Amino acid sequence: VETVGILTSGGDAPGMNAAIRAVVRTARASGMKVKGIKRGYAGLLNNEIIDMDSRMVSEIARLGGTILFTARCKEFETREGQQKGAQILKDNGIDGLIVIGGDGSFRGAQKLSELGINTIGIPGTIDLDINCTDYTIGFDTAVNTAMSAIDKIKDTSTSHERCSIIEVMGRNAGYIALWCQMANGADGILIPERDAFNEQDLIDAIMHNRSKGKTHHVIINAEGVGHTNRLARRIEAATGIETRATVLGHIQRGGSPTARDRVMAATMGGYAIDLLHRGETNRVICYKDGKYVDFDIDEGLAMEKTIDEYQFLISRLMSVY
Ligand code: F6P
Repeated sequence: VETVGILTSGGDAPGMNAAIRAVVRTARASGMKVKGIKRGYAGLLNNEIIDMDSRMVSEIARLGGTILFTARCKEFETREGQQKGAQILKDNGIDGLIVIGGDGSFRGAQKLSELGINTIGIPGTIDLDINCTDYTIGFDTAVNTAMSAIDKIKDTSTSHERCSIIEVMGRNAGYIALWCQMANGADGILIPERDAFNEQDLIDAIMHNRSKGKTHHVIINAEGVGHTNRLARRIEAATGIETRATVLGHIQRGGSPTARDRVMAATMGGYAIDLLHRGETNRVICYKDGKYVDFDIDEGLAMEKTIDEYQFLISRLMSVY
């Protein structure tokens, strides 16, 4: 590969800039040219392509968001869109492409690989919902942001002896919710992966904990379960405890990335250039069982994972007074 393109795609995640910086710097060190593609695949189809050098990425590791902007692009899911994208890359002399994003973004990369562009995927999403990897860039920062917000809600909830229902992001995955329950403590959680903890269980848990002397309560609800306001009304009606709902929302996507996110992003960025240097294509970089590895994209997308059962068990045991 002589000229590598880089784009960020799907929801932004803190740490994407650290990955961009690593890609640009390590590519330059390997003698490759780098071109940044703005606004993900949508920008690719509009030929929004800029030259990048090492100085352009100075001091971006600590910035949240993505300097390349991001988008979700329906047109790129079509054969015509993919062919057009491959042609635009070739016209710009780009023979290798690094895509930072989630599953949908990797599907696009896989198609481009079939069309003759060497592609590498880097997992970037706060949701941790990419099955082939134990870690995705942005998760650590998002969990820390949610944790701090929940700490603050707990201060007021405790003062008023209330119950708080807090909705965290995660799309169809409950990882952020589970981590917050372990980090913050909560009477219970609702996550899409488990229906074991249903609404009646939560009400029973709150009543049990109150009977043991607990004066405030927190329930963490994953976005994929939803209905947070309705749940708050139901809990208030069933328990008689004043209840408030908070949806944390996009605050979880922003902010300066944690050291963990920056370091993981930088390592994965450098690894991506290493793979392109070796002539690899259609690979996704993963962190699995404590090691950086790469898989064929199709193989990676076919893998399965679920929440950590042991963590889930411990979180449940800890929630009972
Ligand atoms: O994938 C990241 C994420 O923040 C999810 O947690 C959430 O479901 C979704 O993106 C929200 O998307 P948007 O920013 O387009 O509303």
